[in-house]
Amino acid sequence: MPLPVTVRLAAGKLTLDATFKAALVSAPGARPDARLDAGIGRFVARLSRQTGITMLGLTDTPPKMRIECASAGNDYPTLGEDESYTLDVTSVGAVLKAPTRAGALHGLETFGQLVTLDQDGFEVPAVHIEDSPRFPWRGLMMDSARHWMPLDVVKRNLDAMAAVKLNVFHWHLSEDQGFRVESKRFPKLQQEGSDGRYYTQDEIRGVVEYARDRGIRVVPEFDIPGHTTAWLVGYPELGTNPGPYEISRKWGVSENALDPSREETYAFLDAFFEEMTALFPDPYFHIGGDEVKAKQWTESARVQAWAKQNNLKDAQAIQAFFNQRVQKLLQKRGKILIGWDEVLHPDLPRDIMVQSWRGQKSLAEAATKGYRGILSWGYYLDHLSPAALHYGVDPMSGDADKLAPEEKSRILGGEMCMWAEYTTSEMVDSRIWPRAAAIAERFWSPASTTDVDSMYARMEAVSRLLEWTGVQHRANYGPMLERMTGGRPAEPLRVLADAVEALGLGPRQRAGKYTSLTPMNRLADAARPESESVRAMELAAAKVAADPKGSSAEAALLRREFARWAGNDARFQELAAESPLLVELRPVSRDLAALGNAGLKLLDAIEKGQAPAAAFVAGQTTEIARMEKPVAEVNLAATRPVKVLLKGGKK
Ligand code: ACM
Repeated sequence: MPLPVTVRLAAGKLTLDATFKAALVSAPGARPDARLDAGIGRFVARLSRQTGITMLGLTDTPPKMRIECASAGNDYPTLGEDESYTLDVTSVGAVLKAPTRAGALHGLETFGQLVTLDQDGFEVPAVHIEDSPRFPWRGLMMDSARHWMPLDVVKRNLDAMAAVKLNVFHWHLSEDQGFRVESKRFPKLQQEGSDGRYYTQDEIRGVVEYARDRGIRVVPEFDIPGHTTAWLVGYPELGTNPGPYEISRKWGVSENALDPSREETYAFLDAFFEEMTALFPDPYFHIGGDEVKAKQWTESARVQAWAKQNNLKDAQAIQAFFNQRVQKLLQKRGKILIGWDEVLHPDLPRDIMVQSWRGQKSLAEAATKGYRGILSWGYYLDHLSPAALHYGVDPMSGDADKLAPEEKSRILGGEMCMWAEYTTSEMVDSRIWPRAAAIAERFWSPASTTDVDSMYARMEAVSRLLEWTGVQHRANYGPMLERMTGGRPAEPLRVLADAVEALGLGPRQRAGKYTSLTPMNRLADAARPESESVRAMELAAAKVAADPKGSSAEAALLRREFARWAGNDARFQELAAESPLLVELRPVSRDLAALGNAGLKLLDAIEKGQAPAAAFVAGQTTEIARMEKPVAEVNLAATRPVKVLLKGGKK
């Protein structure tokens, strides 16, 4: 995952054992590529972790895996560079060929995903693969500003990104709640705007190099003119209102905005960009531009007088003026402005880029007007939607479908967004992975790759493989549950946690009590966005309902799981009596037990070839409708397989 363009399986397999060695075999006269050598070293080390077989890294003798890379490619990963590769595996060895380092790195990741465990040990099937991406811009946006994301979190996610062939790390670095980069020119930005949580310039350079080694571009975002409260704490003179300002603790959109009417604002930004553009080598520089509230500009006599002088009729016109000034400041440093879709305005030059988050319409509109764009609407990981929902969104679908070929060519791909209001560094991996792998496939694989069951089967396998990259989407789950029980054996909580799904931004926002100071230690924080075990039960239930005689394995699985739910509540209630963080879950646990009992009854009826009693069906239908309303900001996913049985296999 992502599924390659062409996969042709052949007879035979390559066994992985201690004689497995990989080497870069350069064309005669080619310049050495230390970065790719290092990448191959990391690949072999990962294979060692994945298999538990200690393998040697690079070798000069004829290697089992030969990597032929025609050219190192560009100095830094570059938008639109050739990322293709071919991979041939036979029982004798493997040959990976790529025109650039980027393609070679992708091919290594593919090889790693082909490793399976069979009777004879770890092996890779004989195969011929030809592969290249559908879109050149395949990104993940991480918000390090709302909740702080330490360096190791960023780096391990870069490793996982590389594993699914994502190539843009969009780094959201400033917000109302924090300014996260050291500025030497304007040190009060981080001194007063970050609670001491910011990346030093050396650390930023380190991340850029780390990403570069993995074929990933880093596009920084400094969101202006809204979302800027943290800037204003140290530099209130930049604000429309005089201040003083404090770091925002609340979520939601602040009214604070930079003052567009003062030359001093642009002078500040000029010096700021001078410093920040030097830190980030990628030509694209993101200025945010989303959700600017008109209120402060409308109520400021100074801004209004200035707007009138400049013939700017409303806040949108003011923002477009501001963006034009900013664009020139970036352009003179060789940077291309990218912004959220609010920046779309005819006064801006056609070489800027638009990131559509409010819908697919703005992406099509941008393309029609001559702008390039990427899609993020539909890829908001923080909504904690099922992978299938994201997988069903295509950058070329919806309004884009009707575009002319030239207009379509301006749609460069997409980015998934990991906003961090309801995510800390501890659970952020589980909010990104494994669902991000499904979106990565949407960005890479042919448009015809749409089989949802196949996607889930592969995503679940890849989820386990991703563990070896270092991301902690699975690893942190157990400790977070054990924290909730105060160190008591957490098995009853785990049974419940596996049967629920955490709710995303919307419902949590509506719960209405959060600030950046709120502890994130409840089940809604630990539970996964999508329950793998419940999904397996749904599939089993559909099979049992459709073919009761031919699905004894599925029936056995359901019986075991329903019995586990039914028997869990007594133990859970005991645990909850001693664990304050579990109290709110007491009714959810009772409902889970009821679902287990209902499921067992339904299985009994199905096995006897009887239809369940009408009164039972009616009663359960009412109960399930009640249980579908979230409690404690989790969704009781366990209703779904019971519902499938209740409806005789219909979803
Ligand atoms: C955004 O989600 N405000 C870009």
